[in-house]
Amino acid sequence: MASRLRGRRATTTILACLLAAGTALTPLSAAAAPGPIYQNPRKPVADRVADLLGRMSLDDKIAQMVQAERNAATPARAAELRLGSILSGGGSAPTPNTAESWADMYDDYQRAALATPLGIPTIYGVDAVHGHNNVVGATIFPHNIGLGAADDPALAERIGRATAEEVSATGVDWDFAPCLCVARDDRWGRTYESFGEIPRNAVVNSTIINGLQGKRLAAPGSVLATAKHFIGDGGTTGGKDQGNTEISEAELRAIHLPPFRAAIARGVGSVMISFNSWNGVKDHGNKYLITDLLKNELRFTGFVVSDWNGIDQIDGQEGFTAAEVRQAVNAGLDMFMVPHDYAKFLDLLRAEVQANRVPLARIDDANRRILTKKFELGLFERPFTDRSFLKTVGSKQHRDLARQAVRESQVLLRNDGVLPLPKNNAKLFVAGKNANDIGNQSGGWTITWQGSSGPITPGTTILDGIKQSAGKNSTVTYDREADGLDSSYRAAVVVVGETPYAEGQGDRPDGLALDAEDLATLAKAKATGVPVVTVLVSGRPLDIAQQLPQWNALLASWLPGTEGGGVADVLFGAYRPTGKLSFSWPSSSAQEPINVGDGKKPLFPYGYGLTYRR
Ligand code: GLC
Repeated sequence: MASRLRGRRATTTILACLLAAGTALTPLSAAAAPGPIYQNPRKPVADRVADLLGRMSLDDKIAQMVQAERNAATPARAAELRLGSILSGGGSAPTPNTAESWADMYDDYQRAALATPLGIPTIYGVDAVHGHNNVVGATIFPHNIGLGAADDPALAERIGRATAEEVSATGVDWDFAPCLCVARDDRWGRTYESFGEIPRNAVVNSTIINGLQGKRLAAPGSVLATAKHFIGDGGTTGGKDQGNTEISEAELRAIHLPPFRAAIARGVGSVMISFNSWNGVKDHGNKYLITDLLKNELRFTGFVVSDWNGIDQIDGQEGFTAAEVRQAVNAGLDMFMVPHDYAKFLDLLRAEVQANRVPLARIDDANRRILTKKFELGLFERPFTDRSFLKTVGSKQHRDLARQAVRESQVLLRNDGVLPLPKNNAKLFVAGKNANDIGNQSGGWTITWQGSSGPITPGTTILDGIKQSAGKNSTVTYDREADGLDSSYRAAVVVVGETPYAEGQGDRPDGLALDAEDLATLAKAKATGVPVVTVLVSGRPLDIAQQLPQWNALLASWLPGTEGGGVADVLFGAYRPTGKLSFSWPSSSAQEPINVGDGKKPLFPYGYGLTYRR
């Protein structure tokens, strides 16, 4: 076994080290290269995979298929069991929650993995779904619903690249993004993770995958992307998260499959299986979907990962059984996100293979897929964090990009001429619970899984943006409840909408009306006779038809993230609004689900969006 170099440049062979340093090798030194084929970066990946697989025990192989949560598996424990992957679930961060601290944590896991007999590096996954959103100080981009309205594939690719750089700065190699769900019922708590209600929006914005993965997975700043969630997550009855998608195969293929075809065509390295059922059968146990459709018909050659404890749901009972493990592995799942009960999973799978109820060929297929991506990522040659990317985290360049994305994502739905606001000599009032709140304007999946109100990470609130945009002799007064607003003001910008949520906690089966606080603030503003500009910060279209006539303007801002200045740029006309709805806007919640082409009459149709005449 070649000697190991310690510390930051630990590699597995002297040869690899010389290569990494760009040393020109003479044929002799190359021919004399020590170490097994799998440790030789000059060998084809397929040969390296075959060589490594031939050296792996059954325990090595089944462990490669397991992903544990960082807070349930220390580096030593992960290495002891030779686990193939670690993840941070939403909000699972080291203390302090800084990019440097993440990089140290990542390197600790990697160092432990490399110290195992075969030295197979771990692969670490996070949900960086609108920037590296778990990390304080990272750039938070608009959620996908906003990018769908921006309808700018080149912008989406640039966002992918910026996100990948910030993720790389923390060592992390794998991003559980993009969500390519096609949300058909706005009551679904994950509507904001969808680019639009028809496949086109996700298809065109799948360019984000190219941004994330770069031209080569092994290139600095590239991370593995994940097309999720396969398949039908946005089509459940009533928009129930993890519910039942009761549609024909023809509709499943027409509506929910095209984004995955696009992602595979772009070389996406992993696919995450969805929690939902399709006509009563949980996707996580559906061999027809995972093997016949995804792997064989679509020729997906990357690896397939379960969702969080996803296999527990196959039989509808709490926890997972040997039967569920067997069904999920044989259905074609390759990597199992088993955050806490990973030891039990290993025991059950080992027993299933030893009893010939799971073929070893299936285990080898999963390992080939996983190891191929680890080799393609260059993890065997450069296993540790590339800290040269630390300077990109929350950088001005990335925040400027995010501000441009905010500008392009704003959709102007009503304007009697009150917009654009005058820059100079204007007495302006700002109100509403979402005007001065980074947490609310960022939404779920921000610092914590569910997100939260308040100054949770550095950024520019919409109020900050308005203050920075107001010019000579202008004043900006803020009060959350609009106290103090009177007829002396030129206009009142009232920023309302939703507070953060994620997944099922955002399901709203009872409708999409504004909350009591927002209604009270809006009514108070209206009563003063001052023109009201409503800015809606929400993860989806809301039920506002009744209030709309009282507003002089309405701007759908979606969930803009940390760069609220982009909203102000549209309000003051520094950027003329170009955003178009990627979702039909319902006349009332009773219309849900409402989608383009279904014959229902929306308040604002798919594709609607105004701009300024001058
Ligand atoms: C969650 C989500 C999935 C996410 C995973 C890991 O339950 O469904 O989108 O990637 O768990 O956090």
